[in-house]
Formats: sequence, structure tokens, C-alpha cells
Amino acid sequence: MTLAENNHGYFEIAREKANIGFEHFRRQYFDPEQPVIIENAGADWPAIKSWSEAYIRERLSKEPSAKTASLWYWMQRDTLRDDYSTPLIINSLLDLPDVFPRSDVMRIWIHCKGNVSSWHYDANLVNVFNAQVSGQKEWLLVSPQTPVDCYPFINFGIMGYGDEKTMRNKIHTRFMLNQGDLLYLPPLWFHKVISHGDENISLNWIFTKKETSISSKALVRELERYHLQQYLSMHRFKWVRNLFEKTNANIPGYLRWKWRYPEMIKTPLKPRRFQLTRRTFNELGVLAKVIRHANKIQPYIDGLKPVKKFK
Ligand SMILES: [Fe+2]
Repeated sequence: MTLAENNHGYFEIAREKANIGFEHFRRQYFDPEQPVIIENAGADWPAIKSWSEAYIRERLSKEPSAKTASLWYWMQRDTLRDDYSTPLIINSLLDLPDVFPRSDVMRIWIHCKGNVSSWHYDANLVNVFNAQVSGQKEWLLVSPQTPVDCYPFINFGIMGYGDEKTMRNKIHTRFMLNQGDLLYLPPLWFHKVISHGDENISLNWIFTKKETSISSKALVRELERYHLQQYLSMHRFKWVRNLFEKTNANIPGYLRWKWRYPEMIKTPLKPRRFQLTRRTFNELGVLAKVIRHANKIQPYIDGLKPVKKFK
């Protein structure tokens, strides 16, 4: 047993077979927002044999809707559809009326051995289905009920602590995601991901549901961040609005403080104005830790490898 497994709060991630039914998935994992690995969901996809970085760039360069983001490629639903078959549960979820519509629902990630995505949670309360097409990735997860300390107002955990310390006494798990396996990562789950294969390619489907019944500390923070964003972007003083917008525009896209939908999701929680003041002080309360570990940030940013443009 590793140190992490010995810690209070460790749980073994659930595993299901590829033929899992939609209702079972929804009741056990999607509604309660619990992670699960669906084993071998993509084991018989042609992509398992054919995908490489060169192949993907070549194919996507012929797809007018495919785009390059900083760290991944965007695709619309069913792009390169001959190479995989969208699992039934994903198709069923994307077609639900209580999911915000978005055009780019798929991403491809390509990483080399040793690449590390530092502790963070994904913005816009996205649900992520992550299929490991080639290579192998180690995932470390922490529940939104026991959040990781983040940099003020953003969705990245403060760098500088070891993983054992980050996960200590938190509800957490760690596992290897193997080729052909599909991970369901619910909204606001903190994750750190380490690439182990020589070439690691992942295919994601992402979407945001319009309503949740699950309350967590991370959700409270996210709602308060949203209301602060609304407050600052519509502030009565123009210099406050400008300062907020300029600061936000100057940080990388994956850190940007912006909700992409016209309404926030419906939740059991209702932030009040005084909570926003408390939130601001809470966020600034970690500055001492940020300063103590400030030397960890630049090397991490320098190590990020943007994806290559199409041919
Ligand atoms: Fe992520």
C-alpha cells in the first residue's frame, strides 16, 4: 500500500464494463457527480492503432471546424468519426435538454512521456469523458468536497506542496488510465495528470449541465467567483471594470475568469453580497503561501508545450 492509499480519505475509483447502461450510469455516477472508469470502452476503436500526432494533425487540417487551442485541439461532435464510436452514454447525455449546447464538444490532447498537468479543476463546471487512445496516464483526483488550496480567484492549485501533502485528509484517489479506458470526471474534481507512455493521446467529450443537486465547497467558491465576476465586470466605476477586464485578458485562456454561458447553472446554493466580501478576503488569505512558493510557477509555465498548428 502506498502512502496515499494509507491516508485517511483515500477511496478506490469505481470501475464498470463497456456495456454499462445509461440509467445505471446516470443514477450511480452522473447525478451524484462521482468519478468512474469505464474499462475497454474504446478498446476496439480504429484510433487505438492509427492515431499518432502526425496522423491527427494531417486529418484535422482537412476539417474546417477543427481548431488549435493553447494546449489541445478542438473538434466538433463526430469529427473523425470513422476512428472511434461515441459511447452510448455520452451520446445520450449530449442530447439531454438540461445540458448547455456548445459547438466544440471534443478535444484531443497529445503529450510526451513525463508531461505533468498540475493540480486544477476544469472551468465552466464541465463534465469530462476522457478516453485514453494511446499511452497511459496516471490520474490523481481530489473531491470538490475537500478542495485543494488554489491561487486567488483561479482554478489552479498552489504549486509547491508534494502530492502526498496535497491529498492528505482529502477525499482522494489515484489510478492509471490504460489504453482503451474511459474516465468520467465530474465537475469541479481537482486533478493532476502524469503521462507515462512515450506518446500519450487522449480524446475528450466535455459539456456543462444546467442544474446540479450536489453542493460542495468547490461549488460555493465557483458560484462566488461567478458573482464576483458579474459584480466587477459591471462595476459603477469604469476604472474598476477596465482593471478587471485587462487583468483577466492578460492571463492564459485556461486560467481566465469567465463563465461562458448566459446563466449560471441552477444549484441549491444562493450566494449573498456579504459572502462576496468574505470570498475576496478568503482568496487573498492564501497570498503568504503563494509568495512562499512563487519560484515554482515559472518553471511549470515554461514546461507547458502548446500543441503544434495544423500542417
Ligand atoms: Fe483538466
